[in-house]
Amino acid sequence: MSGWNGGYVTDISYTAGWYPTQSPMMMALACQLCSVAVPMPRPEDPIRLLELGCGQGFGAMVQAASNPNWQVTAVDFNPAHIAAAREWAAEAGLTNITFIEADLATLAEDPASRDIPEADFVTLHGVWSWVPKSVQDGIVRLLRDKVRSGGTVHISYNALPAWGPAMGMQRLLREAGRRLAWRSDRQGDQGLAVVQALLAADARQLQRSPFAKALLNGLHAAPSSYLAHEYMNEHWQPCFMADVAAALSDAKLEWVGSSQLTENFPTLTLTDAQRAVADRFEDPVMRELVKDMCLDRSLRHDVFVRGARRVDNATRDAALMDVTIGLNIHPDELPATVDVPAGQAEFNAAFYRPIVQAASVAPARTGDLLNLPEVEGRRDNPAELLGMLIGVNLAFPVLRPGADPHPAAMRFNLVSARRLARSESLNRLVGAASGRTGAGVQASVLDLLVLDWLRDGQTDIEDLLRLISPAPVDAHTVRDALNHSLHRRMPILHRAGVY
Ligand SMILES: C[S@@+](CC[C@H](N)C(=O)[O-])C[C@H]1O[C@@H](n2cnc3c(N)ncnc32)[C@H](O)[C@@H]1O
Repeated sequence: MSGWNGGYVTDISYTAGWYPTQSPMMMALACQLCSVAVPMPRPEDPIRLLELGCGQGFGAMVQAASNPNWQVTAVDFNPAHIAAAREWAAEAGLTNITFIEADLATLAEDPASRDIPEADFVTLHGVWSWVPKSVQDGIVRLLRDKVRSGGTVHISYNALPAWGPAMGMQRLLREAGRRLAWRSDRQGDQGLAVVQALLAADARQLQRSPFAKALLNGLHAAPSSYLAHEYMNEHWQPCFMADVAAALSDAKLEWVGSSQLTENFPTLTLTDAQRAVADRFEDPVMRELVKDMCLDRSLRHDVFVRGARRVDNATRDAALMDVTIGLNIHPDELPATVDVPAGQAEFNAAFYRPIVQAASVAPARTGDLLNLPEVEGRRDNPAELLGMLIGVNLAFPVLRPGADPHPAAMRFNLVSARRLARSESLNRLVGAASGRTGAGVQASVLDLLVLDWLRDGQTDIEDLLRLISPAPVDAHTVRDALNHSLHRRMPILHRAGVY
């Protein structure tokens, strides 16, 4: 590796991904749930979104394709990422996205930063705890210059103390990998093999950490490029939330909550006894430390606001009643309970069934759903409804209800289906752009291919099967996956305005 990368992996490109926690709709919703006045984007708002450390830009492109009236700027220092992103955006005909190749350590002082408009929303996913302090300092200077008053920032990072017991595992993986291979993806694979061999040989420091073991189980299916970017960086360093909050305060950013929505509800995240300890403190950062001591969750998704304005509960509830939601499940998939950190949360059928049934027909306003005559239970708590349904991924916010599928989003999805099918496994969850939702909608690479096929007016599933698996693969598995895609996911994507 050469010197420009500051120890960050640059010989292997990162995988493409879109994550709901990065969407401005989710950032605004998180703020609303925490009684901070960040209005939900309205359909016609010319939002300016900035992504720092965008990888190959897939997530930023999903946002641009879903919102042709937004202006999206995405930055990465890896020229291979920026070249790929520009090529992809050009093929998809996206004109409202700009990719900038720049080092975040120095971008604030670089003339190139003059082209970055003041941002309403900023997202940094998987960057902060993977880069050296000089880059973190540069990020803070850039945020100080580029976040508008009232603007919102999403930042994810590996959190302490959850990562603590697995730090030895990361160190071993990296040190072993570097000695056994040259290219970063091969280093990751080789390092992982050594860690697994030691785990099987009863290495105590690996055996005694359930978190390290759970991570290792998940890594079996992870692409090598993910492994390389997660584990092989020189300055990989999980951090305490208090330290991130202190750093960002230099950019006048105040911590508000989490775009992992359930985390904004103490009753869902902490037991009664844990809450009793957290409640001894007024300082939200201290309460977060108590929370981080109690949860297994290792990646935080914090939302900060430059100039957080508090609103009273009545104002908050009025704003939440106006949020439109769409359903991300088939209505018969509503679970009775769902696991949350505090235990199990119940979906009371008398309350949730009529709501889920109505939202499965078409996106609906929260206030209208709570007013359905069949609903039994508290109709005055839109926060709980939104936190539960969107927080556990059963629903999503909808920006432009009733909008027809947008040509920019459709073209982007088509181009992405063909590109992703060449590099990713078919069951990898990415996202489909939608003008109606104003964000991505959960979709696998296979779903994107099926969308492509449906648009061509095809109907014969055997043709689709041949298109997807020209090589002999397990036909039953592919057929099952196709049936799931066609009969379960497509109706959801259709109602979400993807096609
Ligand atoms: C783990 S990847 C995350 C990519 C993307 N945000 C996502 O979630 O798919 C981190 C990204 O940060 C970029 N990066 C690392 N150091 C950087 C720096 N000093 N300046 C700009 N980008 C940097 C890397 O090239 C990489 O694309």
